[in-house]
Amino acid sequence: MRHAVVMAGGSGTRLWPLSRGGRPKQLLDVVADRDGGAHSLLAEAFARLETVLPADRIWVCTAARYGEQVRAALPRLRPDRLVLEPVARDTANAVGLAAALVADVDPDAELAVVSADHVIRPVERFAAALTTAFDALAARPHSLVTLGIRPTAPATGFGYVQRGAPTGVPGVAEAASFREKPDLGTAETYLASGLYLWNSGMFVWRASTVLEALADHLPATAEGLARVVAVPAGPERDAVLAEVFPTLPKISVDHAVMEPAANEPGRVLVADLDVDWLDVGSWPALAQTLEQVGEDAVAGLAVTLDSAGNIVFSDDPDHLVALVGVRDSVVVHTADVTMVCPVSDAERVKQLLTEVEERH
Ligand code: GDD
Ligand code: MG
Repeated sequence: MRHAVVMAGGSGTRLWPLSRGGRPKQLLDVVADRDGGAHSLLAEAFARLETVLPADRIWVCTAARYGEQVRAALPRLRPDRLVLEPVARDTANAVGLAAALVADVDPDAELAVVSADHVIRPVERFAAALTTAFDALAARPHSLVTLGIRPTAPATGFGYVQRGAPTGVPGVAEAASFREKPDLGTAETYLASGLYLWNSGMFVWRASTVLEALADHLPATAEGLARVVAVPAGPERDAVLAEVFPTLPKISVDHAVMEPAANEPGRVLVADLDVDWLDVGSWPALAQTLEQVGEDAVAGLAVTLDSAGNIVFSDDPDHLVALVGVRDSVVVHTADVTMVCPVSDAERVKQLLTEVEERH
């Protein structure tokens, strides 16, 4: 049967100080509703999957410390569909754990893996692409299908997948190569060639196939997860998981599985995902979801005068942020931290956070 899992355990460090260790971006109510309210990226990801699958086959995988917040954000999530990692060990291990638990209840499961940090419009085209990817998997059951997006810039924060031979399923090609987060020069070459798509970080495969791929390319993870599911679900399994998981090598599924698997001819397929798509990874990306006031992107109480190109964010309804003559800056106010930087330095917020943690 078809299942899906939302990867929701990232920490979102480039959105500091809004995104914090205990409350990461996917759980923040940052997406504006039409009626003036707001909801989280995770709630949106779950609702998006519900257009394709029944809620009882939608799983969410996150770090244990976010478990309560995830339950609160997703009232339709079935309690036994929440996969909790004792500690975050990056997506290869998270995907592996989810696949092992899904396969434990449905050994032939076809599993879509989606991210929790995307804004995707319109949802109908997402649903159609996901269904096409499942159809391509039905035709080639042992393949690893990624959903690919036409690139618009030489972004270095994404993976790139090279389109190869057609598969017979419209909109789905074999992947000739996969490269995770290339340097700028390489990304520029890829963009200019017209042959590459961005990896959306969303995949469709059989749960058993991704576990086999992990056995090939990340044996410690495959062996560790096999130990976990050898024990019946319950406190005993949780104890084995708590012992095994922290020992697994920290690595993403893109590096651990997709890059090496794409070297096997015909193993990786890429399905076109033709949507407006945003990975809400940084302040400039988040700004695209905010209200435009004059020439600034604004959330919260703000007054700007002779200012332009700014991203202004205040999460305290009683605290006014006021700018005059300010250009191209990120200004973020939270109860305990104020952060200001040029928009062009927004990617360095992660580095800034490291600095802050060292000094405090
Ligand atoms: N459960 C769990 N555990 N989820 C995690 C973990 C983890 O340890 N680490 C990250 N995630 C979740 C994030 O919350 C997000 O929803 C998703 O997995 C992807 O992680 P990111 O950290 O946001 O990855 P990325 O954006 O740098 O790169 C990935 O996505 C890009 C597109 O958005 C890669 O797949 C790239 O190739 C891709 O282009
Ligand atoms: Mg991301």
